[in-house]
Amino acid sequence: MKSDFLAQNNSKSYNKAEQESILIKQLSEKSNRAMQKFYCQKFLETTQLDYTMAGHPSIARWVINSIEVNDSEQDTHFLFISEGEVTLKSSNGEFLLREKSFATVPGNFSLDGSGQVLVATLLNYTGFFNLGGPIEPLGRLKYIDGCSATVLINPLKLGEPCLNFLYVPPGISQTPHTHPSLRIGLVASGSGTCTVDEGVFEMKEGTVFCLPENKLHSFSAIDDCLRIIIYHPDSDVGPTDDSHTMLNNTFVGEKSAKVLDAIRTK
Ligand SMILES: [Fe+2]
Repeated sequence: MKSDFLAQNNSKSYNKAEQESILIKQLSEKSNRAMQKFYCQKFLETTQLDYTMAGHPSIARWVINSIEVNDSEQDTHFLFISEGEVTLKSSNGEFLLREKSFATVPGNFSLDGSGQVLVATLLNYTGFFNLGGPIEPLGRLKYIDGCSATVLINPLKLGEPCLNFLYVPPGISQTPHTHPSLRIGLVASGSGTCTVDEGVFEMKEGTVFCLPENKLHSFSAIDDCLRIIIYHPDSDVGPTDDSHTMLNNTFVGEKSAKVLDAIRTK
């Protein structure tokens, strides 16, 4: 980086503060360029990608067999077991996680066993401990272009993170589209492709990917279907203090508590 700086700035002399400022700008541009790339790899080794500079600071990990995460009690981790089974230990207890199941783990944890696990972490967010699965063959919600989706882990409140399942049927190519926040994911089963501006990436069981925010993309399934697990660091639906099912469906006479300011918790 120093040599980059010298090569690009040798015609003018800068004081120390100006040099530092230019170096920081160059580093940040480099980091932004890296963060704009579509990451897509076969799940072959434990890998960690840093998205802490993203709009919703996150870390992507694909773990083979075991890991200890002791970074912070303030973070929350979204897990999906793509193959095998592992024992999860955290302050919530010890649990055997089977193939194609998922979990949300707030705070530090460890995994040990014989398996492959997607771990998507949202920094400085305290979620709720959850275990679920296995995933179902099809999504429960209609999506786009014949695809369907299931919210595996719902946002606790509007705007909070969630874990989703996407089903792309055979013969379907999605309309190219973008998402306003990053996506971290893994192909749970099937095969197909993902098309982005860098090219067409092959996706099959065990492929892991990171899609930067606002990146134009399209998933396609050709002969087979695609089943994909996707972490979203945010959401645009979910309960709020002004509207949630316990409040809305509490009635005094014929009026919902939602409109009864006199009794609503302030
Ligand atoms: Fe998408």
